[in-house]
Amino acid sequence: MAILPIIWAPDPILKTRCAKISEVDAEIRRLMDDMLETMYAAPGVGLAAPQVGVTRRVVVVDCARADEEPRPIRMANPELLTVSEDEAINEEGCLSLPSHYADVIRPAGAKILYLDETGVSRVIKTEGLLATCIQHEIDHLNGILFVDHISALKRNMIFKKMVKAKRERHLESAD
Ligand code: NI
Repeated sequence: MAILPIIWAPDPILKTRCAKISEVDAEIRRLMDDMLETMYAAPGVGLAAPQVGVTRRVVVVDCARADEEPRPIRMANPELLTVSEDEAINEEGCLSLPSHYADVIRPAGAKILYLDETGVSRVIKTEGLLATCIQHEIDHLNGILFVDHISALKRNMIFKKMVKAKRERHLESAD
């Protein structure tokens, strides 16, 4: 496995609508494993393929608490089958927008269809953190960031700070 570099916003890759996976093969399984390792190292609870520069519909999540056993979920082509009528407000962050957080309103629960790492089609019913996390990751596959759910004023403020942070990151890596 390998830890992959995470792309920071703003970046055109993070605005891309990602392509469907036709088959969960060894290459996709390897990508899923690398993404999990990258997510755990960050650390984070979810990661979508475009965040590591791959514009394909692959997501990994693990919403287990620190005192629980890890519960990694590897997903290809995840989609929302149904969402609950009741909504929840949660403070969200993103590994592509490090140190920025904002309250986002989303459906509190969701039924998700996806292909697992063996190519088997699965449906899971989610609520709480897992529901929020998977909806956030599916957004990534459609070129949407959590800041696209908040006011333009707040979003632009965050992007301005990110442009500066990216410049500094670039200078550091050039040392
Ligand atoms: Ni994210």
